[in-house]
This record gives sequence, structure tokens and C-alpha cells, in this order.
Amino acid sequence: MCNQCKGNYYITTPIYYPSSNLHIGHAYCTVATDAMARYKRLQGYNVKFLTGTDEHGQKIEEKAKEAGVTPQQFVDNIVLGERGVLDLWKLMNISYDRFIRTTDDYHVAAIQKIFKKMYDNGDIYKGSYKGKYCTPCESFWTESQLVDGKCPDCGRECKDAEEEAYFFKMSKYADQLMKHIEEHPGFIQPESRKNEMINNFLKPGLQDLCVSRSSFTWGVPLTFAPGHVSYVWLDALSNYITFCGYDPDGNHDEHYKKFWPADLHLIGKDIVRFHTIYWPIFLMSMGEPLPKQVFGHPWLLVKGDKMSKSKGNMIYADDLVELFGVDAVRYFVLHEMPFASDGIMTYELIIERINSELANILGNLVNRTVAMNNKYFGGEIQVPNTPDALDEELKAVALAMPGKVEAKMNELKVADAIDEIFVLLRRANKYIDETMPWALAKSDETKPRLGTVLYNLLEAIRFAAIALKPFLPDTSDRILAQINAENGGLESLTSFGVLPSGTSVGAGEILF
Ligand code: MSP
Repeated sequence: MCNQCKGNYYITTPIYYPSSNLHIGHAYCTVATDAMARYKRLQGYNVKFLTGTDEHGQKIEEKAKEAGVTPQQFVDNIVLGERGVLDLWKLMNISYDRFIRTTDDYHVAAIQKIFKKMYDNGDIYKGSYKGKYCTPCESFWTESQLVDGKCPDCGRECKDAEEEAYFFKMSKYADQLMKHIEEHPGFIQPESRKNEMINNFLKPGLQDLCVSRSSFTWGVPLTFAPGHVSYVWLDALSNYITFCGYDPDGNHDEHYKKFWPADLHLIGKDIVRFHTIYWPIFLMSMGEPLPKQVFGHPWLLVKGDKMSKSKGNMIYADDLVELFGVDAVRYFVLHEMPFASDGIMTYELIIERINSELANILGNLVNRTVAMNNKYFGGEIQVPNTPDALDEELKAVALAMPGKVEAKMNELKVADAIDEIFVLLRRANKYIDETMPWALAKSDETKPRLGTVLYNLLEAIRFAAIALKPFLPDTSDRILAQINAENGGLESLTSFGVLPSGTSVGAGEILF
């Protein structure tokens, strides 16, 4: 841990299926995690931010066959190829520290050891499986779990399947898990998801889980059972510990000791069951501590509908970035997403938000202030030596803002945190109307007051720009460059008046 650090903070996204190009819903999840990771860095934490791809399973095997390539070539193309996952995260300005692929050698070797350990300690046994299988979701279901005869997760057809398989004794750990959930009220967030897990899965009793497959080969081979590969979710969930050197024999890498248990798994609501029931139970079987928190975010819907290729309503983040710029897209997904209910996106709504919020409230404020400082003072930032009672509210709103943002971020309410910054921006716009700088510019006598007003506006802009860094990193940097200020982190937002006088603002530049 570094000296000034507040401590370690380990945050993860789900690892995405590279079965086709990622869409704006996936991008939302990663941008939200990025915002949280960047916020924690700004607070002074030593952050480890992990993302990656979940590359095994029947669906990928089938897709590769259709495309006439090997599964490895198929996933390599989606991850590393042009407009692939790595390109997308670069474009979206994602500040991840590590990218894991479940086909990485070290991960595969660790999964084989984990499986063997669970088998040796008696949590995994051999049996045979008969049930309904949903290929796209890689999930077996019992007849009673199907909804109208279809997969309860995605609504698609399931097929009959039977195979010799290995099972994990889930019920052995059910009481221990229930106790953990009850004793750690923050473990599953939001609250509604926690109740869903307790009532729909834990209370009715956990079925043993089929954790091996022999009907296809694209997976991690089990060393003690030729012909069987690991169930893709056991393989995938374990990424959160294999990346940092978890060793089932106990010889962990120092990264593992430093970062596990994770502070936050940020995932979508559809995979909460895997992260709050299967994953904790696998960890209990390994004798390892559980992640501190799992947050199941809502979904981003297109005009109120799920995105699907057949409906022709897919929206891709890279197309949006081409049209609107990266920060407009980041802003839209972060800000349009409520905490617990689904968010809606349409092109009209994106344009509306860019115009009314980013351009009007943020862009105009910066542009007008910088332009006035250039026009009236040749760019030079003045000494704020002519205070007035009118200034007090602006200062108070600025000084209160970081604490309010922190409170919202602690509750994972990212959209509300951004709103708190916009409260300051709106207040600053109102301050322009109240102080009327153009009127102050008319006489030499009121020039010192004009200098003070512009100083206060620039300082309020500095507050907002630094606080915006986790959400709109590029815009934050561009604003700070225009007002000639450093990003001194959150500590530089504890007093109003830090911006040095005497330096010059840059040329006004349109932000949006
Ligand atoms: N591979 C698994 C996760 C394994 S984690 C150990 C998986 N992959 S996925 O690519 O299908 O989905 C990844 C994430 O994207 C999920 O958290 C899912 O909720 C999220 N989203 C997919 N579509 C979404 C929206 N339309 N809106 C928001 N998030 C969405 O599941």
C-alpha cells in the first residue's frame, strides 16, 4: 500500500461473452464500473479494476463453427480484432488495470486445480443429468423453472439434455450463505435483488448444481474426468480470484493477499443469482472469504425494449461515440440509469440531454466565463478582492458538493452523484444572472468586482471539473486546461479560492 493511500479497493465488471460484438448495455456496465474506479482513485485509494472476457462454452463453439474458424480464432477476433472489445474500452476511456481472458493459460491451470480441490474435499460428485438446457445462457433448468416452457432468463427454447456429469453440493452451504446474507445487509444491493435471491432461490432450497459438461469440448478440461469440461460459470466466476494469483494450494501471489476479497462486483441484474449464490458457495468450498458487495444494476432498454438482433434495435457504443463524442455517451448512460429501475435510451433522448444539460448547463457556463475573462482582462485570472454577500451561496454550494457526491457514490447512486455536480453548475449559471458581469464591465469602478465575480465562477468551474473527472474524464481535463488549473484531487476541494490568480485562462473552446 502506498503511503498517502486510503487503502486498497478492488472492483470488477462481469467478464463479457465474446460471442458477438458488445453493445451499449455492456458498455454501460463497464463505464459505471470505470466511474466508480476513477472516483475511488480520486479519493486516494489504491484501486485494482478488473474486466475481461468469458470465452468458453457451447455457444462460442457453435458460433465459431458457423463462422468456419476455431473457437480460439473466433474469440481472438472479437476481443483483439478491429472494433473488438479492447478497442471499445480504449474508445470509451476505460481505466481498467487488468484484462482477463478465460482462455489465458494461468486461468485455465487455476480452474483445473480449483475443480480438483472441490472434488477432493467431497463437494463435487459424479452423477447424471437430465433436464432442459438453454444454449445461449449455458444454463440447465428443471421443468418447473421454465416460464411457458421457455428459458426463464432469456425466453428462448430449451432443449432436452442428459449427460453423465459432476455435481456440486450446493445445499451443504445454503445455511451458511443465508446467515452471511442476513449478517451483511450490504452484501447484495439493491435490497430488492436481495429479497429476490432469498425468496426465489434460498428459501425453496438449493438444488445441486451440474458443474461439468461432456456434450462439447470448448471449455477447461477436468484433469480427473477425461471428456468433461468445466461448467462455464464456475470457470467464469473464478476469474475474480485467478487474475490476482489465487492458488488452491495456498501459495497465493501477494496480489491475492492484497486485493481479495473484492470490494465490489458490479454486474447486471440478470446475473445476480450467479454472483450471490453460486459464487459465494464456491468460495466457501475453497475456504476463501466472500466479496464485500455485489451490486446488480438495472438494464438499459431501447425505447423500453430489450435489445436484440432480430428486433433490429441494437445500439453500439462505438457508433454513438462517432456521432456524439465519448463523454456525451458516458454521460448519457451514467445519468440516464436509475439506481433500481431500468433506463431508457433513444437517439432523441441522447440529443436532448446533450443539448439541455451538457451544452447548455456545463458547456455554456465554461465558455461564457472563459470568454468574459479573456474579453475583460486579457485572460488574466484576477485577485478576488471585492467580495459581496451574493458570493456566499455559490461558495457554500461548491464546498458542500464533494460530500454530497461522496454520499451518493457510497450508495452506488452514480446518476444522483452527477446530479449533485450539476446543482453547482446550475447555481453558477444563476450567479451570472445575479451579478450581471456585462454590467460590471461598463465602468472602471466596478472592474475589481467584475474580477472577483469571474474568479468565483472560474473557481466553481474548477470544483465541478475535478468532481466530473470520474464520469467525463476527457471533458474534465479539457476544462481544467482552459482555466489553467491542476487536478489537485478531492483534497483541493476543501476550500474555495485555491485557483491561483495572475495566470491566464486559455482560449475559449466549445465543449459539446
Ligand atoms: N459472461 C457472463 C458474465 C460472467 S461474470 C463472471 C455474461 N456475459 S454477458 O456478456 O452476457 O453480459 C455481461 C453483462 O452485461 C451482464 O452484467 C449483463 O447484465 C450486462 N448487460 C447485457 N445487456 C444489458 C443491457 N441492455 N443493459 C445493461 N446491462 C446489460 O453474462
